[in-house]
Amino acid sequence: MPTPPDHTHSTAAKPTRALVLHPDTRGGDRSGRDPKYAVAEAVSLAHALPGLDVLGGEVVRLPRPHPGMLFGSGKVEELGQRIEADEIELVLIDGTVTPVQQRNLEKAWKVKLLDRTGLILEIFADRAATREGVLQVDLAALSYQRTRLVRAWTHLERQRGGLGFVGGPGETQIEADRRAIDEQMMKLRRQLEKVVKTRELHRAARAKVPYPVVALVGYTNAGKSTLFNRLTGAEVMAKDMLFATLDPTMRAVDLPHGLRVILSDTVGFISDLPTQLVAAFRATLEEVLDADLIVHVRDISHPETDAQSEDVETILEQLGTDATIPRIEMWNKADALPVESRATAENLAARRDDVYLGSALTGQGLDTLLERIAADLTETLSDTDLTLPFSDGRARAWLHEEGVVQNETQTEDGPRISVRWTARQAARFAAAFPDRAPAGLVPPKDAPEQDRSDDPWTS
Ligand code: GTP
Repeated sequence: MPTPPDHTHSTAAKPTRALVLHPDTRGGDRSGRDPKYAVAEAVSLAHALPGLDVLGGEVVRLPRPHPGMLFGSGKVEELGQRIEADEIELVLIDGTVTPVQQRNLEKAWKVKLLDRTGLILEIFADRAATREGVLQVDLAALSYQRTRLVRAWTHLERQRGGLGFVGGPGETQIEADRRAIDEQMMKLRRQLEKVVKTRELHRAARAKVPYPVVALVGYTNAGKSTLFNRLTGAEVMAKDMLFATLDPTMRAVDLPHGLRVILSDTVGFISDLPTQLVAAFRATLEEVLDADLIVHVRDISHPETDAQSEDVETILEQLGTDATIPRIEMWNKADALPVESRATAENLAARRDDVYLGSALTGQGLDTLLERIAADLTETLSDTDLTLPFSDGRARAWLHEEGVVQNETQTEDGPRISVRWTARQAARFAAAFPDRAPAGLVPPKDAPEQDRSDDPWTS
């Protein structure tokens, strides 16, 4: 068995003292973003891990990464002094660190070190709850661990080569670890395949969930959980923590005019999600793809709200979200805007009919948002008549449970039911009862299903 990743920092009774460093590579992978906000985001990420005492974050200028130590020797020395003085035990580097750099820095600073991928993996591992989510996270963790192992070994081998070692205990151990990881990964892939195969079944089960679904999406810390709690009256999860909600949470809400919907809270998005983690993240967002309406919650008081919004839109697109699902934007945290910006935001919001300005914290603007959600869902309603055979009690019960029946008369062939429903409700009915769907209503082949075929981990 490969050695499991070191979780000591999350299980230790005494919190582990941690420091976040954000290498400012300006013009590199985070071009355009102010490092000040990037480091704040990384510190929030670190707070999401239990058992850490995050002492702070620092931007470290790094025009050119050094192959051996990442930072130049003077900087390593200077940071080392700070690390020693503050008794730091864990350094989180908000960027990519090669295995060699990791080893060298750990040795120089006498700390444990995690890079951005490692940190996000730890958080995902801590939060993933669905079967598929857990498998995807495990797989991503192993694949990450494997590259570390292999490269560290190459490095070691190079060092020892000159001394004429043949084989040696180190090499055998690492080869064995590598094989163990490969076997473990194969096992996980097989399990994942099964999960993917049964997804159709899950979807059929999902098709039986009554009522239209409204999905809240948004950048991490935008206030989705706070909004979710306020709208549903649920006492869960609003913490000042990134990823407080890795798995979608669903709850019924009664909208104005009596329309009942299911509100779905989703995991927060972040910029620069390491590619190794995309599948794991995607596995947690299934509900969005099936939603009848998407509400994009934005922290309008954040200085980089526009860049965050673009990130969210890009990820939604990459997920294969159906462009026909109506979307509205909730500009949240209006209460936190300085007076002068509030007027501007009000003007901007007033000019767009898909934007609502308000505050999940104070409740301001939420009534109009709910009115709009109700109106949007009502607007997309269409009327259809269905004649069901007497023998099919289940399809009839589904329609009644879903609350879409307007009128029902008896005919010689069976009950004739007039329904008013959203396109998605109709599609769900067609998925659950393919033989009973009105002509032309074939369950949509949804994009994510096809998208997954090119997943390195599911193919
Ligand atoms: P993730 O789970 O990381 O994706 O976060 P989230 O989008 O669910 O955010 P959450 O609801 O946990 O809120 C994050 C922080 O913002 C918390 O400290 C909330 O109290 C705060 N917050 C949420 N809504 C508002 C608001 O309208 N105004 C103000 N001032 N703060 C808010």
